[in-house]
Amino acid sequence: MSALRAPLPPLPGSPDLPQVLTAVPGPRSRALVDDLARSECPAITARRARRAETTGATEDPVVWERARGALVWDVDGNRYVDLTSAFGVATVGHAHPAVVAAGQAQLAALPHGMGDVFPNRRKVELAVRLGRIAPPGLDRAIFATSGSDAVDAALKTALVATGRPETIVFSGGYHGLGLGALGATSYRREFRAPFLPLLSSRFHHLPFPDPLRPPRGVDPSRVGEVVLGLAEALLADPASGASAVGSVLVEPILGRGGIVVPPPGFLAGLRALCDRYGILLVLDEVLTGFGRTGDWFACSGEGVVPDLVCVGKGMSSAFPISACLGTAAVMERWGRSSGEAIHTSTFQGNPVGAAMALAAIDALEGGLLEQGRRAGAVLRSLLDEVAARHPHRVAEVRGRGLMLGVDLVRDREGLVPDGDSGLRASRFLLERGFLCMPAGAAGHVLAVEPPACLTGAQAAAFATALDEFLSR
Ligand SMILES: Cc1ncc(COP(=O)(O)O)c(C=O)c1O
Repeated sequence: MSALRAPLPPLPGSPDLPQVLTAVPGPRSRALVDDLARSECPAITARRARRAETTGATEDPVVWERARGALVWDVDGNRYVDLTSAFGVATVGHAHPAVVAAGQAQLAALPHGMGDVFPNRRKVELAVRLGRIAPPGLDRAIFATSGSDAVDAALKTALVATGRPETIVFSGGYHGLGLGALGATSYRREFRAPFLPLLSSRFHHLPFPDPLRPPRGVDPSRVGEVVLGLAEALLADPASGASAVGSVLVEPILGRGGIVVPPPGFLAGLRALCDRYGILLVLDEVLTGFGRTGDWFACSGEGVVPDLVCVGKGMSSAFPISACLGTAAVMERWGRSSGEAIHTSTFQGNPVGAAMALAAIDALEGGLLEQGRRAGAVLRSLLDEVAARHPHRVAEVRGRGLMLGVDLVRDREGLVPDGDSGLRASRFLLERGFLCMPAGAAGHVLAVEPPACLTGAQAAAFATALDEFLSR
């Protein structure tokens, strides 16, 4: 057995708190990351170089071995509390026993089906179930494998349903990196710049209504109205260049763009605008859906019903499965397929993913949605206390439910983002056994997105470590 395959050391100490036994990363992580650097495309491993430049750490990633609940173990036996839910996926917790059991049983029975040709039983069950928990009326599904695929399906559906190819989107939005979704994504220009010749020019990018940092000259209390006015101007004025808008695509809360919550009434305003102009409201709830914000969907908390909603991540809490859900009226516009389905893919509605999603939905219904709401509230009040102790470094703690952001500034009065401080904080916290991610275009937001099973002790220990970072 190679050293890297040797059994993990025993796990002493308090079982739900972090325990970092080695330098971070430890020797096994370092060896594996070196292998990766030699074998993976540098576009992916580049994150390592950026982290090293910013944090001074010569080596960064720790290599994950296993996870359970809110805990992750690396290959060196270090135990971390995960406040990322692994990109917002593990809402019901890592390796939730019922989700794992459902996946294992399905793997043994039928690990793969035939998408649209011979549907599998779990895909059918999931489609029906989604119709019951989706925003009212959105009871038709197109399954996909990633969030980006779900957004592509929504963009295609919007064109098919309206005959109009243009879409209004918002700055800082992250909708995925496939060639369709990337056209709508504007978070970090580096993602788009090399591929501009391949991207559709039919997206109109408007500012996202950020109440903390509104566009220059805009009163923060009116930022929602102002952005709605800009959208209306685009739609109403034939000279605006937007002649064929069929949809508005928006994240109900900007995720990667910095956990930015739009002002109350903004989504409802978009709904009203779409109705006035006969266009579709498409919500990207890939991150916010399935309990992340304390509700099934972020839009349910606001009483807004979209025409299409994109979901992924927390839907299965583990497996690459996603969907675009829509009303019958919109989805029927695809019409009958004539021989070949014109929108499908090999792993569409994969039975293992569908079985795991059904189990994750059961777990949320069975108490984890409520537990997540409580965990989010506890964490929020702890983070608010930390922020109050560091008024010159923290502009605000914001977000909803299990989707929180700590906005770090260099100058509180000018609200000048402390560039890359989210990254520096996440490195500091990693060494203390907490996994976090930076967010926001300037990397100045610490995104805090734990699983619903985060305990009070874990939340308190994290707040103490963050306080320590801010005190330095
Ligand atoms: C709001 C939102 N939409 C879409 C995506 C893309 O999802 P995926 O990475 O699964 O393609 C993400 C990923 O972070 C996201 O946060």
